[in-house]
Amino acid sequence: MSATNYDLKKILEHWDNEAKNFQWHRSHQTTLEGDFTGDVKIKWFKEAQTNITLNAVDRHAKTTPQKTAIIFEANHPDTPAQEISYLELSTAVNRMASVYKNLGIKKGDVICFYMGMTPELVIGVLAAARIGAIHSVVFGGFSAQSLAGRIEDSGAVCLVTNDGAYRGEKIINLKDICDEALKNCPTIQNVIVHTHTKNAHQMLSGRDHYLHELLKNSDPQFPFEIMNAEDPLFILYTSGSTGKPKGLLHTTAGYMVHAAYSFREVFDFKENDIFWCTADLGWITGHTYTTYGPLLNGGTTLIFEGIPTFPNGERFWQVIEKHKVTHFYTAPTAIRSLEALGDELPQKYKMGSLKVLGSVGEPINEEAWEWFHLNVGKGNCPIVDTWWQTETGGIMISTLANKTECVPSFATYPLQGITPILVDNTGDELKESVNEGNLCIKYPWPSMARSIWGDHERFIQTYFTTYKGCYFTGDGAKRDQLNRYRITGRVDDVINVSGHRFGTAEIEDAIDEHHDVVESAVIGYPHPIKGQGIYAFVICHHKRSDTEVLEKEIRDMVTKVIGPIAKPDLIQFVDALPKTRSGKIMRRILRKIGENELGSLGDTSTLLDPDVVNRIIKGKKN
Ligand code: WT7
Repeated sequence: MSATNYDLKKILEHWDNEAKNFQWHRSHQTTLEGDFTGDVKIKWFKEAQTNITLNAVDRHAKTTPQKTAIIFEANHPDTPAQEISYLELSTAVNRMASVYKNLGIKKGDVICFYMGMTPELVIGVLAAARIGAIHSVVFGGFSAQSLAGRIEDSGAVCLVTNDGAYRGEKIINLKDICDEALKNCPTIQNVIVHTHTKNAHQMLSGRDHYLHELLKNSDPQFPFEIMNAEDPLFILYTSGSTGKPKGLLHTTAGYMVHAAYSFREVFDFKENDIFWCTADLGWITGHTYTTYGPLLNGGTTLIFEGIPTFPNGERFWQVIEKHKVTHFYTAPTAIRSLEALGDELPQKYKMGSLKVLGSVGEPINEEAWEWFHLNVGKGNCPIVDTWWQTETGGIMISTLANKTECVPSFATYPLQGITPILVDNTGDELKESVNEGNLCIKYPWPSMARSIWGDHERFIQTYFTTYKGCYFTGDGAKRDQLNRYRITGRVDDVINVSGHRFGTAEIEDAIDEHHDVVESAVIGYPHPIKGQGIYAFVICHHKRSDTEVLEKEIRDMVTKVIGPIAKPDLIQFVDALPKTRSGKIMRRILRKIGENELGSLGDTSTLLDPDVVNRIIKGKKN
C-alpha cells in the first residue's frame, strides 16, 4: 500500500476516541467540518463546549491536588526552586482570572503578554483562557517596535509584563520597552506589571497596575467561561516569506485534543515523569509542550527562566540532575552550542533520571544527534525528532518514544491522524520514495491554525493556493523506501536561525530603514551552531569608509525594528544585486554563494548584469 493512502473515516474515528479523554460541558456530534478548498473554514468537534483550564487545571486540582504541576527554576542557580502544586496552580489561575474580570476584560478580548519565563506568565496565560480572553504572547527578545506591531494588529486591550526579566548576567528592562511600544498602541487600556527584577521603571497612573496590588482583591475560586469548540484560544505571531508577521489563530477544542494526545504519544509520558521543554512561552513549543501538553496530561512541567550558558555551560545538566528530569526537549542549536564546550561537562552530572530526549525547531544534523544521544542520554534514551510548526499547533511527524525506531536526522513517521504527502513543483503527488518533495498535509487535523488574525484571505493565499486542495508547509522533505520522512528545510524565503523563524523580506525591510541603504537582499547560509546564519548583501547610496561603524549601525537598526535575534551575522556591501531584467532579485544565486557552492550557480544568463555575480563572489564574507 502506498504511504499516503489515507483513510479519512479511520482518521476521524481516531480523533473521536482521543476526544473522550476530556471533560466537556457539551459533547460534539460533528467530528470535522470543512476541507482545504474554497474558503477553508475548518471546524473540529463543532458542537462541543468546554474550557481548556477545566482540563489542564481543575480536574487535576481535584484528583491530584498535591501533585507538582510546575517546577520553576530561576535564572540564578542560588535562587531556590519553586514547586507549584495543582491545587496552588488552580488558586493562582482563578485569582488571576478574577483580576482580569475586575479590570473589565471579557470573553473575546485579546491580552498580550511580554514577559520573562516565570510562573506568572504561565498562570497569566491560563487565566486568560479561563475567562475566554485570547492570549497573544510576544517573546521578550522582540523590540518595542515589533511588540507595538503585534499589539496593534491584535487589538489587545491589556498588556501583562514584568518590570524586568533576568537573562544570564543581564536584566532586560521589559517595562521600559512596553512604555516605548505603547506610545503607539491606543487599544491597550490596562498594563499589569509583575515586579520581578525590581529595576527602576515608570508607572502611568490609571493605565498601569502592580499585579500584587490587583491580587489583593482577587477571588481564589472563579468560574470558567464555557467556550465553544471553535472559540479562539490564542494568537501567535510568526514570520512568513512575505509581509508582516502573521497572527496565527488557534481555537479551543481541537488544539486541546491534539496538544494532549501528541504529548502523551510522542514522549511516552508517564504519571510521575518530569518534563522539561526549554522553549520560552513566546514560541509555539512553549505553548504546546511547556504548558498545555504536560498540564492537560496532569504531568509536572519544569519552566526555566535562564539561558544554557549562565553561570556556565553546565547549567542544563545541573538542572536535569537537581530536578531528576525524565524528559528533556530542546533545540539543535542549544545542543550544538553545548557540544562545542566539550564532552566533560555533561559527564560531571548524574543524569540517570533521563528517559526520553527530544529535538525541535530545525533539522538536527547527525553529529549533534549522536552527541546528544551519547553524552546526554548515555546511549539509553530514545531521541524524538519532532517536526511541526506554529501553524500546525502540535507535533505532526515524529518518532514515538519506545514505540518506533529513532533514525538520526529523520523525523520518521506521521502521528496517527496526520496525513503528510509530498508533491513536485507542479503540485503532482509523489507516491514513491523521493529525495526531494514539497511537504504538504492532505486532510485537516484538530490543532491546525484556523486563520490569520484579521486576514482570512491571507490565510487561504499563504497555505492553500500553492498546491490546490492541501496545506503547504513551506518545507521540503525526502521520503525513504520505508516511508520515513526527513525534513530538509524551508523551500520558501523563510530562514531558521537558532530555531527562530524570520522572513528574509522582513529583515531586508529593517535594513533598508537605515538612511544610507538603497537596497538589500538577505539569505540564510549554513552556520555550524545556529543552523542558518543571516547573510545580508547591502547597496548603499555612497561609499562610506567607516564600514565597521556602518555595519554596526545596520545591526542596531535590525535590533530596533525586529530585535537582537534577527541581527545579520554577515554584511557584505555590494554595488548591485543579481536581478532579472524584470527587476526580481535572484536569491537562488545568492543562496549558492552563501553556501559556497560556486560551481552550481545555475543559469545566470537571464540576469540584467551577469558580471554582478563575479563582483559579489570577490567580496564574499564566508
Ligand atoms: C519550521 C517551523 C516546531 C515548533 C518550533 C518552530 C522547522 C521545526 C523541525 C524538525 C526539521 C524543523 C521547519 C518548520 N522545523 N521542527 N524536527 N526538523 N525542521 O516552529 O517557528 O513555526 O518554525 O521549523 O522548517 O517549517 P516555527
